[in-house]
Amino acid sequence: MKLAVFCSGRGSNLKALLMARDNGLLPGAEFQVVVTDNKGAGAMSIARDHGVMAVVVPRSAFHENRDGFERRLVEVLEPYGVELVVLAGFQRVLGATFLGAFPNRVVNIHPALLPAFPGHMVWKAEVDYGVRLAGATVHFVDGGVDSGPIIIQGAVPALSGDGPDELAQRILSVEHRILPQAVAWLAQGRVVLDGRKVSISGLRPSEEDVLQSIVWPPLEIGK
Ligand code: GAR
Repeated sequence: MKLAVFCSGRGSNLKALLMARDNGLLPGAEFQVVVTDNKGAGAMSIARDHGVMAVVVPRSAFHENRDGFERRLVEVLEPYGVELVVLAGFQRVLGATFLGAFPNRVVNIHPALLPAFPGHMVWKAEVDYGVRLAGATVHFVDGGVDSGPIIIQGAVPALSGDGPDELAQRILSVEHRILPQAVAWLAQGRVVLDGRKVSISGLRPSEEDVLQSIVWPPLEIGK
């Protein structure tokens, strides 16, 4: 499966994907191109270090013209025969022009347990709310804000002393595990979409997998 990865900044999720590929964990995933809307993005050098073409499409060049920006993104992907677009820290909401060109072929990683805390800069909102569990979600992109069908989620505890930066860092560690897993399933053609529901074909969780629930703070009674 031919992939494009879209990033706006640091690119640690891109790096997790490329390391998984380099370690032979993503058979069938061909990374064709990395696209960024920010020419200063760290993701650019990560792509080049791993031998993947990197292209900048500056959003600022299109002013208020989101349609023009999205048409340009489609154009950039055309020569690569892209079959799946992975938004890995891409800080733009994509609309009908782009999504229409890749129906059910765009996935995103979001640093919260959706549907709680959609949108930008969610870590402070989570800390201020006092959540006990935080986490990350990989989902299909459907034109809403972080509202598409969910492929995989990973939870981490929010500790009492956490500020937004500490929580973001802990969430990032689970992002780096679930995004490569989602891409592996997608590249293997095992992700089945039925309305809002996603299933992974051939998944055989053990009873232990199912019963292993995450509770935080840890139980002191009834363990
Ligand atoms: C990640 O935490 C990702 O979940 C988040 O941006 C960060 C990018 O980090 N994405 C969003 O907030 C999308 N709205 P990275 O560039 O190191 O992968």
